[in-house]
Amino acid sequence: MASLNLTQVRGKNFVPAEFARTRPSWNRPSRVGFKVFASESQAEPDLSVTVNGLHMPNPFVIGSGPPGTNYTVMKRAFDEGWGAVIAKTVSLDAAKVINVTPRYARLRAEPNGSGKAKGQIIGWENIELISDRPLETMLKEFKQLKEEYPDRILIASIMEEYNKAAWEELIDRVEQTGISAKWVLQLAKIVPLLEEVCGWVNAKATVPVWAKMTPNITDIALPARVALRSGCEGIAAINTIMSVMGINLDTLRPEPCVEGYSTPGGYSSKAVHPIALAKVMSIAKMMKSEFGDKDHSLSGIGGVETGGDAAEFILLGANTVQVCTGVMMHGYGVVKKLCSELKDFMKAHNFSSIEDFRGVSLQYFTTHTDLVRRQKEAIEQRKAVRKGLQSDKDWTGDGFVKETESMVSN
Ligand SMILES: Cc1cc2nc3c(=O)[nH]c(=O)nc-3n(C[C@H](O)[C@H](O)[C@H](O)COP(=O)(O)O)c2cc1C
Repeated sequence: MASLNLTQVRGKNFVPAEFARTRPSWNRPSRVGFKVFASESQAEPDLSVTVNGLHMPNPFVIGSGPPGTNYTVMKRAFDEGWGAVIAKTVSLDAAKVINVTPRYARLRAEPNGSGKAKGQIIGWENIELISDRPLETMLKEFKQLKEEYPDRILIASIMEEYNKAAWEELIDRVEQTGISAKWVLQLAKIVPLLEEVCGWVNAKATVPVWAKMTPNITDIALPARVALRSGCEGIAAINTIMSVMGINLDTLRPEPCVEGYSTPGGYSSKAVHPIALAKVMSIAKMMKSEFGDKDHSLSGIGGVETGGDAAEFILLGANTVQVCTGVMMHGYGVVKKLCSELKDFMKAHNFSSIEDFRGVSLQYFTTHTDLVRRQKEAIEQRKAVRKGLQSDKDWTGDGFVKETESMVSN
């Protein structure tokens, strides 16, 4: 789905959000002496996060799509331990939403007909629309879930036509289902009208709003900036990437094929992860430089299947990580694997909380011109060290051992 989500908390005690945080020195593991004892007594890393005033047991969020399509599956997500659930996007009139089948097509590492065993699924295209279930039904189910899981975070995703009254009605109806501090609203709309729509939404909503970004644009930081300036508390990225999965070389018809025809769809899963990282990096840099320590949040989405995939988004500044296709392929129980792999990563680096490493890798991105300058400097330094010292006056205290080695012949 090409859409845009928004989530906002009002009247909450916001938790300050910093991007590039270095770990406090008291928390660093000892490199000498009692190192063995220190690692043996290391406490379990804490995966819990507080985002725009909302507490989640872990940063893993069900992304909007089939895994949040009805009461039964959303309940399952809570029972399996997901940090939060974003429901499938809803609008006022579901009768306008007519889905077709088949609506998915997959890309494998070894394509069908290649003579090799069917390879791992690396890409997924969908031509699915937003929820085709009546709004009343979805709202009833949201209410029931809120009653049964009062402490968990349920996020509504909404999309409407370019019509202020329609957006206002949708927000009203969604919020009436049992709005509380644990409720978040997510909205979807097209980019060129973003500022105006965000204005309507933020004037009306009494809960947090995150704007979900389409990657089908040259500079994704541009709409993200507009959404934050218009009052949104967070950004989520990315939605699916415009794609054509392939052409069947026997039938000459495109996939997914509906009555012999197809239409471009949205690409997701493992193959989009590097693109998603680049987009999230670009948004995170913009947020850090232009919005600084304001309490805005960032949710990374795209191709997450392992704790390592999630760690990468967090290292770029994401507070939470969403998973959609990964759940469709591996089931709701994958959250346990994600949590344990993320904890393993944290243990390996002695990180005790998500904030310990959030945004740490952002500082290592620079321009190509700067890479050239850095490499030139490094080569010059290496040459100078290899040559040895020109004169006795060049000896330094800090580099003394290296300077000595640079003049040894064996
Ligand atoms: C079948 C399918 C349906 C989707 N439906 C929605 C939707 O209704 N609303 C929405 O905001 N995003 C929707 N998405 C996009 C996902 O939420 C997510 O942004 C995207 O798939 C990338 O994440 P992933 O690689 O973890 O799937 C859908 C994705 C898929 C695969």
